[in-house]
Amino acid sequence: MYIDTHAHYDDAQFDADRDRLLQSLAAAGVDAVIDCASDVKSLDRVMDLVEKYPFVYGAVGIHPENVDELDVEDSSMVYNYADQSDKIVAIGEIGLDYHYPNNPDRELQQEWFIEQIELAKELELPVIVHSRDASRDTFEILQDYGRGLCGGVLHSFSGSPELAAEYVKRGFYLGIGGMVTFPNAKKVAATVERIPLEHLLIETDCPYLAPVPNRGHRNDSRNLAYIAARIAGIKGVTVEEVARVTSENARRLFGL
Ligand code: NI
Repeated sequence: MYIDTHAHYDDAQFDADRDRLLQSLAAAGVDAVIDCASDVKSLDRVMDLVEKYPFVYGAVGIHPENVDELDVEDSSMVYNYADQSDKIVAIGEIGLDYHYPNNPDRELQQEWFIEQIELAKELELPVIVHSRDASRDTFEILQDYGRGLCGGVLHSFSGSPELAAEYVKRGFYLGIGGMVTFPNAKKVAATVERIPLEHLLIETDCPYLAPVPNRGHRNDSRNLAYIAARIAGIKGVTVEEVARVTSENARRLFGL
């Protein structure tokens, strides 16, 4: 029924019960999961998960908060991981994060964002983009370097509905997660209201960002039901419709 297009089951927060939890997802209506790498160490863990579980797919890439651990030759390392398995279906998560003052230099983040977009083009894979407090630069880089990409998703999109519409015009999808259930996240709700379901994906970003009513707890893909229900409420359609269309979108973008 549902596809979780952004998860981090490689995270240590799942060490105690990862297998049991992943085995329970099918019964909760979760058909597939895309597990996203975030740093160099997580690349091997993502590869292990996609080998072990038929319904887990992977994205390989380095999150902007971790690009300072990279050397120039590390882009070929990311390439080799992506090239190793047909179950690696995207480059991600990549992007820009200007939120914390001690994050890597903006110029370094931008270099690696562009470098990994180029990798995605070479590999003919879509991108999973993280953008926090960096709306303008993210848009400009995707505008300047994104031509020729096999599409992509703005994960956990929290920009304006107007910006959302600009991305959709350029063929990108918008990832909607737990934030849509937060009473103060008005922009996310406005984006869901404005953008047709055909351009939305659902995601948890677990273990982070659990939706209401589980906000503040460890998140997992079973919570997609709350996210889908909230989207259904905003758009005035059934949960089944949200599940069906967002799953079709995920299968189309990632070639599942
Ligand atoms: Ni993430």
